[in-house]
Amino acid sequence: MLSPSKILSRFNPATGEVPGARMVKRHLSSLRGCFADGAAFQAALAQQDPLIYTVATVTPADGEGDLHCGVGFIMPGKIGGEYFMTRGHLHAWRDAAEYYIGLAGEGVILLEEEATGEGRMVELRPNGAVYVPGRTAHRTMNTGATPLTYLGVYPAKAGHDYGTIAKKNFRCVVIEREGRPVMVARKDFLTTKHTK
Ligand code: NI
Repeated sequence: MLSPSKILSRFNPATGEVPGARMVKRHLSSLRGCFADGAAFQAALAQQDPLIYTVATVTPADGEGDLHCGVGFIMPGKIGGEYFMTRGHLHAWRDAAEYYIGLAGEGVILLEEEATGEGRMVELRPNGAVYVPGRTAHRTMNTGATPLTYLGVYPAKAGHDYGTIAKKNFRCVVIEREGRPVMVARKDFLTTKHTK
């Protein structure tokens, strides 16, 4: 039997902290290329390099049928109309699915099926669970005024492929329009901005 400390993880939804877990902290400077509005990104970075999100990873066991989980914590804020977001990834083992469970705050997950490029925006809030199918890129955004905290549960052997997204990014962006998040094609967003 696993030790009790591996069986029970306690997390703080107000801070995203999981005692004993490894936490990765991503500041704005590490999200170069994620936001569609490069000028807004540069302008924000010239002011400061704020913390955008953290992920605390819990890895109790690494066997074939084991599960890992991560507690994600995204600060509220926007860059050029886009909400603060995670880098986004595919799973290295493409068949691996994942469950996202909202713990605190308001956000959305942007999904993009790798084979078809079809995108979908799904709300991520407390009392909601989002199923991310395999072979689907996923990126999380905080659309509220307070921190967004969520739990992601995935196969231990899923692995993270950040490179594919870093190269081509998502086809869609999520921006605020009249106080609500809406999903628009990246190329349309860029065209609209440049003709203003
Ligand atoms: Ni994932």
